[in-house]
Amino acid sequence: MGIKKHILVIPGDGIGPEVTTWGKAVLENIAEEYGHEFTFDGALMGHAAIEVTGSPLPDDTLAKAKASDAILFGAIGHIKYDNDPSAKVRPEQGLLKIRKELGLYANLRPIMLFDELLDASSLKPEILKGTDILFFRELTGDVYFGEKKRSEDGNTGSDLMIYHRYEVERIAVKAYEAAMLRSKRLCSVDKANVLETSRLWREVVQEVAKRYPEVETEHMFIDNAAMQLVKNPKKFDVVLTANLFGDILTDEASQIAGSMGMLASASIGDGTGFFEPIHGSAHDIAGQNKANPLASILSVALMLEISFGLTEEAKRITDAIDKTLKAGYRTGDIADAHTDPAKILGTKQMGQKVLQYLKETVLN
Ligand SMILES: NC(=O)c1ccc[n+]([C@@H]2O[C@H](COP(=O)([O-])OP(=O)(O)OC[C@H]3O[C@@H](n4cnc5c(N)ncnc54)[C@H](O)[C@@H]3O)[C@@H](O)[C@H]2O)c1
Repeated sequence: MGIKKHILVIPGDGIGPEVTTWGKAVLENIAEEYGHEFTFDGALMGHAAIEVTGSPLPDDTLAKAKASDAILFGAIGHIKYDNDPSAKVRPEQGLLKIRKELGLYANLRPIMLFDELLDASSLKPEILKGTDILFFRELTGDVYFGEKKRSEDGNTGSDLMIYHRYEVERIAVKAYEAAMLRSKRLCSVDKANVLETSRLWREVVQEVAKRYPEVETEHMFIDNAAMQLVKNPKKFDVVLTANLFGDILTDEASQIAGSMGMLASASIGDGTGFFEPIHGSAHDIAGQNKANPLASILSVALMLEISFGLTEEAKRITDAIDKTLKAGYRTGDIADAHTDPAKILGTKQMGQKVLQYLKETVLN
């Protein structure tokens, strides 16, 4: 029996619209094939929204977001703001606000490693092979939301790093639940030797751990975790960490997967889920048909699995990507010296290839 879902598509800025087109096309294909009814709406956010409405997150977008079953997001950001730190209205305010408004406190980032891309990473294939990590990054607390100050003379700045017990507890529970379904190993990353917020973090994680005695818990300092991640990534399974540490660690981990263009993420809370590639708007390649659309397509697979419980459909998508890569097709960011130049594709051609394999893929 097919299901009915209403999906909001927010393409955003830069390469956002280019890659999101293919995420949406895959959703349409899955709906058709499995008899689901997916309806779509679109909305503005980021620089694109500032240009039209003056706000990075217009009320209309927020209302549509709250009324949808899931959101497919591209990326936001514009070079104009990157070079002007004093701009009061900024694209990223839209993203921070929607996370807060939708209560998206947990950001899930699976580090999926396609065997075909072992050589695309800067790490050695023998170190990478078999890596399978699921990051849980806290998303609505930490220095991102604490008070920000600048002294009157402009020479001193500060950002308040703050966490409340309930914020740590609710994401810890989500991470332990996931660990129970995986290999029952969880590593909590903090800086408890220096930071009070980390001491609270560790205390709460230790309490939650008692409810999951089957899960083997390890606590690691962020500096050590950053090092271990490239030294021996296989040692990690579920990684639980705060907002700032998670931001940095997951970008580091993107190199395990070969490129930012390969990683998807899900932001969840108690309501509508938000699905997006981990990359930004990539001004350097925007509008040139060079962006890798696979992270957006993998975001759709996460949406189907996490928000709609459609695991078979999600697997169908990852299988189609696997087949596309096995056939030798690459976008520029994941191509290497061994890639057949005739198989280096643009965004559009890569999207079309995945759709072709999606139609042909039979689940094994
Ligand atoms: N979630 C978001 O919307 C988000 C996240 C990070 C950065 N940003 C914004 O994006 C803008 C650019 O930031 P940045 O350059 O630090 O990060 P970025 O992720 O946009 O780009 C980093 C590098 O990775 C490459 N890259 C990223 N995605 C790619 C893809 N799909 N295919 C091929 N190559 C890809 C880019 O070309 C660039 O060289 C900034 O305005 C920043 O604020 C937005």
